[in-house]
Amino acid sequence: MKKTIKDYDLSGKKIIIRCDFNVPIDGGIIKDDSRIRKSLKTIKYAIKNNAKVILMSHLGRIKTEEDKEKYTLKPVGKCLSNLLRKKVTFIDQTRGEKLEKAINNMKNKDIILIENTRFEDLDGKKESNNDQELGKYWASLGDIFINDAFGTIHRAHASNLGIASNLPNGLGFLVEEEIKKLTKLITKPKKPYTIILGGAKVSDKIGVISNLITKADYILIGGGMAFTFLKAAGFNIGSSICEKEKINYCKEILDKYQEKIILPIDVITAKELKENIKTNERFINEIEEDELGLDIGPRTLEVFKQYLDDCKTIFWNGPVGCFETKGFENGTKELLKIITNTKAYTVVGGGDTLRAANTFNYENKISHISTGGGASLAFLEGIELPALKIIDEK
Ligand code: 3PG
Repeated sequence: MKKTIKDYDLSGKKIIIRCDFNVPIDGGIIKDDSRIRKSLKTIKYAIKNNAKVILMSHLGRIKTEEDKEKYTLKPVGKCLSNLLRKKVTFIDQTRGEKLEKAINNMKNKDIILIENTRFEDLDGKKESNNDQELGKYWASLGDIFINDAFGTIHRAHASNLGIASNLPNGLGFLVEEEIKKLTKLITKPKKPYTIILGGAKVSDKIGVISNLITKADYILIGGGMAFTFLKAAGFNIGSSICEKEKINYCKEILDKYQEKIILPIDVITAKELKENIKTNERFINEIEEDELGLDIGPRTLEVFKQYLDDCKTIFWNGPVGCFETKGFENGTKELLKIITNTKAYTVVGGGDTLRAANTFNYENKISHISTGGGASLAFLEGIELPALKIIDEK
């Protein structure tokens, strides 16, 4: 069993909590704060136990100096302060005198949020390559390290693996809960068990398909990735997204698991992905050359419903259509309605799917919404998660 925040006496100590505040922000406005809200339990626990709380997170991917303005964590600091009804001091640095001074002046129950850890990537990818010196430096700022960033548990970065290698450490409540809830999908899941996979790419889902296909009864496929499967099954997919180099993989899976893999029978097409554009309902043998498939159609929803109605376990990763664009939201929205009307244990994972659940107000009707996209898939693939493995055992 891994150590958790509860295994430590936090009083008067500087607790570094690695969170996943990688939230969509547009023009300084946070579009979905669910990841922030899900981090509150651990932060509140640390405050209640008289800790000095130092929060760290990445946001987006930093490749140029200009990315810094777009991906500053400043709006997250404001949001946290509102949610906690407490001052959160945002330090616009990832290292240096100002940061060190602020930390040294902290009193019990104070909260500091450090600037986006990936700003360090501009200097030779120090964060993402787990630069030893950086991990040591960040560790030197605190007494105990708590990893509560499930979204990056599959990454070996300085702000998770690096710090954990240099400090007594443990897991936060969010990570603990994710592991408990996701484990139910791999250890004796109640049957019938159906998986819904969507999103753009087959390549992102290969590991999870390979690992879960023998555990699940059915895998329903939608979203952009369905078109590589449809192409592999011999259909003309027009101008729809397709990963040519994955067609053979799809063929093999379709041959081997014919009865388990369920593909769309109709789709919503358009000439481009744009709001208020003319859309068409097409059976999959009717897609025209200059059309893109952008959502699953109503008949596919009926078919999917039959596979989902009596399920006892449902896992869903990746929207089945371009739900953020008007005209292509129906598939994802209706599927949310279908799964939440079942009696199944429902788990939804992935940033986009999470956003869909929030947008259409199904957040509270799902048994577990995972904050991890790639992380939940990696967990379900059964591959080693470096930032989890490093955490001390009890
Ligand atoms: C996510 O959004 O899945 C996590 O925050 C990880 O982000 P990353 O894929 O940029 O490492």
